[in-house]
Amino acid sequence: TVVVIDFGSQYTQLIVRRVREIGFYSELVDYDASYEQVQKLNPLAYILSGGPNSVYDVDAPKIPNYVLESNLPILGICYGLQALAYQLGGNVEKSDHREFGPAELEVIKDDPFFKGLPKKFTVWMSHSDGVTNLPKDFETIAKSEYTENAVIRHKEKKIYGVQFHPEVVHTKYGKELLINFLIEVAGLKPNWKMEKFAEEMIKELKERIGNEKVILGLSGGVDSSVVALLLHKAIGDNLIPIFVDTGLLRKNEGKEVVENFSKLGIKVHYVDASERFFEVLKGVEDPEEKRKRIGHTFIDVFYSEAGKLAKEVKFLAQGTLYPDVIESKAPERKASAKIKTHHNVGGLPENLPFEIIEPLRYLFKDEVRQLGRTIGLPEQMLKRHPFPGPGLAVRIIGEVTKEAVKTLQEADYIFIEELKKWDLYEKVWQAFAVLLPVKSVGVMGDYRTYENVLALRAVTSEDGMTADWAKLPYEFLNHVSKRIINEVKGINRVVYDITSKPPATIEWE
Ligand code: XMP
Repeated sequence: TVVVIDFGSQYTQLIVRRVREIGFYSELVDYDASYEQVQKLNPLAYILSGGPNSVYDVDAPKIPNYVLESNLPILGICYGLQALAYQLGGNVEKSDHREFGPAELEVIKDDPFFKGLPKKFTVWMSHSDGVTNLPKDFETIAKSEYTENAVIRHKEKKIYGVQFHPEVVHTKYGKELLINFLIEVAGLKPNWKMEKFAEEMIKELKERIGNEKVILGLSGGVDSSVVALLLHKAIGDNLIPIFVDTGLLRKNEGKEVVENFSKLGIKVHYVDASERFFEVLKGVEDPEEKRKRIGHTFIDVFYSEAGKLAKEVKFLAQGTLYPDVIESKAPERKASAKIKTHHNVGGLPENLPFEIIEPLRYLFKDEVRQLGRTIGLPEQMLKRHPFPGPGLAVRIIGEVTKEAVKTLQEADYIFIEELKKWDLYEKVWQAFAVLLPVKSVGVMGDYRTYENVLALRAVTSEDGMTADWAKLPYEFLNHVSKRIINEVKGINRVVYDITSKPPATIEWE
């Protein structure tokens, strides 16, 4: 494992991702993780992340001694570099220039770290402190205009430090630098392969579960679908996948999920609970209240169904991903104001009488797709846009009624169908329609109409955290708008949302 020591930078997860993309297994650990915990990962090299602190802060996090004494290759990034310099006897000072954004790096000494790279290239800086005196036996191998010691190395040991951020895409050869560090400097060979991970995961699940039964809440989304297929391969029919139809899904969705899984040999237990959901949503307009009620109802339905299907269930499987694991371990990292409660439907109460199985807890979203592909989940299931747990309820502004859902489903269906026809579906991260509680006047034929406004939303994004509105072609929007107004009763005006995230969110509620 390439162990990334977390000093709290907003880019730490990116480091892990990049390292995995290069073909090495990597995990993030807190800077105060114990020696035993880290040894379990079988570390092959350490990367020290950036962080918000200054080494002179009273509570500045320190590089653990077992890292410094390990004799393994070490790469310090930003704060990681400063902590290295400071702890090994160098000097760090506030510089006059805060350096933030692109800077030109100039290589001043040949080194395997720069193999195959030009002498000058753009890097991404984000710091106000800088290393002013090198520790003993260190030398500078690159600089930038404002940073004398932009890249330093130990003269004999494989210890490197960079002041900029190679993990962000704005650093021109960032990935190449990480490759050079791990392969040229550290001498490691890439060995992280999805096939191997899948094989080992299935074996591990088989051993852990034995002949016991496992329940799984299937949403039809990528994560729970991959979990279902993994478990099916490991334990066959002892997997009990339950699909709760909330009545708030996209058109035909319930039917499609059941059919798709049946083709894979997996029998899904389909529960139509839509009446219950409409009942609890009656009169509710507040978005968070909708989420809360849907969440509770989902849990009720799910467990009462599970109880009916099997007397004794030992395990509950969930599609938790690596970013969720990291976030839940470091809540202060998410200390930012609560925008939405975002739990998936099925966000579970504590103290459940089940052991939890989370086969995806080491993976990022794009890796889950890769894993799904490796174990044979059809492309069409892998490429589905994300869909919020509370479903169409948060895309109907105001009260959720059956009629509103029906109207929205029809409009949404046309939008998605056309995106696929025009070859645009895979070019956007997410696309959907939103039904507004606003009526406007129109004219159809010789008649005045007074009907609802529908908003279309399509965004591009890497991870849903930030997003840009998709620049869909005007002809396409024109065509979709015409179809919706001609075919969907109750809508006489279509608008397109041109707001990015931030300041807006992707969903409207
Ligand atoms: P926002 O609207 O916060 O959405 O920009 C970011 C991503 O999360 C999805 N989303 C949800 N997913 N439960 C979910 O499982 C929720 O309550 C929820 N709200 C938003 C949204 O569709 C987008 O992909």
